Amino acid sequence: MLKLQLDKLLLMNRMQDRLQFEYQPMQEYIEQLISTDNKEKEAKSNGLRYVSHRYQFEKAIEYFEKKFIEDGTTSDENILNKKQFQVDVQLKKIFPDHTDVYHVPHGQSDQDIARHFINEIGTDDPFYIVDVSHYPKQYMKWKCYFPDIQVFYAMKTNDNDFLIKIIERLGGGFDCASINELKTVLALCPDIDCSKRIIYAHPCKPISHIKYFQEKNVQLTVVDNEDELIKLEKHWPNVQILIRLKTKDSKSLISFSDKFGANEHIATRLFQLAKKLNLNIVGCAFHVGTGCYDDNAFQHALQFAQQIFHIAKKYQFHLTILDIGGGFPGFDEDHRPSFSQLAQTIQQSLDEYFPQRENIQIIAEPGRYFAAASMDLVASIIACRSNNKDYLNFSSKEEKENVDKDLIDNIYYINESTYGSLSNILYENTTYSITCLRKEHSQLVEHDETKYKSIVYGPTCDSLDIVSLGVDLPLLNIGDHLLFYHVGAYSSSLSMKFNGFQTTKYYYIWKD
Ligand SMILES: Cc1ncc(COP(=O)(O)O)c(C=O)c1O
Repeated sequence: MLKLQLDKLLLMNRMQDRLQFEYQPMQEYIEQLISTDNKEKEAKSNGLRYVSHRYQFEKAIEYFEKKFIEDGTTSDENILNKKQFQVDVQLKKIFPDHTDVYHVPHGQSDQDIARHFINEIGTDDPFYIVDVSHYPKQYMKWKCYFPDIQVFYAMKTNDNDFLIKIIERLGGGFDCASINELKTVLALCPDIDCSKRIIYAHPCKPISHIKYFQEKNVQLTVVDNEDELIKLEKHWPNVQILIRLKTKDSKSLISFSDKFGANEHIATRLFQLAKKLNLNIVGCAFHVGTGCYDDNAFQHALQFAQQIFHIAKKYQFHLTILDIGGGFPGFDEDHRPSFSQLAQTIQQSLDEYFPQRENIQIIAEPGRYFAAASMDLVASIIACRSNNKDYLNFSSKEEKENVDKDLIDNIYYINESTYGSLSNILYENTTYSITCLRKEHSQLVEHDETKYKSIVYGPTCDSLDIVSLGVDLPLLNIGDHLLFYHVGAYSSSLSMKFNGFQTTKYYYIWKD
């Protein structure tokens, strides 16, 4: 069984390579067919070509029709091809006519793209660059590795319209944790069947929110304590319940198991109480912590879930849903398990602990996986203190010991903040990779330019608003830009308007 599964994974790996490869000729084909209008010509002269995404998808459909439907073989590969085809058919219907998405032909660098928009925006406001193509690509990748695990995208990660619509059209559902998250989904996807595609995945629910979810016909939620069961008996007695389990998540960027989750003893008590209250427990859920860098965490959690499925039987509960939560990386990084490694561990553990799972629906709540690498952020230097050493006059000994500010050559103040899109610097200790672009024609700084020890501060009055302490940067000026990569997860959703600063400008692109 295990070997079979590994073979399947290997095939999927090969498919994944192939799918990425397939994008290329598809885009070339599309390019030949794109009509030229004035807006396109204008954008072309700036290095980017404007196309209507609707048009683009229609051509994509033609391509897939020709390529896959006419080719009638029934190999595994072809089945996956058809899945991809269906993905594209769905995409055709997604986009409203009015939103501009810039088509970025293959080979254009992130810096080129940033440079284009810096020239276009014409102000010193910060902005996001959102690669819309990232969402269907990630979805397809998910389906390659986890053909049978349904996505319930975690709304808290980023509630971007495109992201939500794409997930919905591709057949995914949503993990909503509040009235407002559900309202956002409903506003964008008014026809969504909440009974099948929404999970109220918060173990601690305000009564008013329970009522709203119930009104909208949501039928699935999670619980990790007896008081919540008693609340549900009173306010949502017919809901289907998953028991949220504790996990070994200490190695994750942010762990949840101190705050949420039942151990075996508590889970047993929950079954007993649910029986008494006539409540319907249908499965279990876990979350290995967001930013999970330990593939054993999934293995342990699935082993624990297996025990819970066994215990359930003792109390005549027949569990049919297994929710494996989030924790998947948004992009691969050195020295950390990649998405494909985690997927492999999960598939192996599922085979080991749930070998007969035909009657179990497996779902997941990925957030970071979809959002992180879809957005870059461009901020600009609004003020600076060059030759910082000239200003040093520390009065307190403590301050002097605390910081090696003696060594800092330059200080920069940018227009994006740790109270805004960059709060993960505080919460997750994130170090973003940065590229500098000069004001003049947004030129890149030369590779061999001398670098100086620098501090980058956010724009607010708060001295804790530190974007980077002691980073090596070339000599920069007011009006130069910093490009931050992979700022899509837990950025805009955590940002606040402290001191009146907040990034609201978005440019959308579709990358080949
Ligand atoms: C219940 C729940 N599900 C899913 C997620 C998404 O996690 P991730 O972004 O790691 O995929 C979170 C994150 O906080 C969560 O609390």
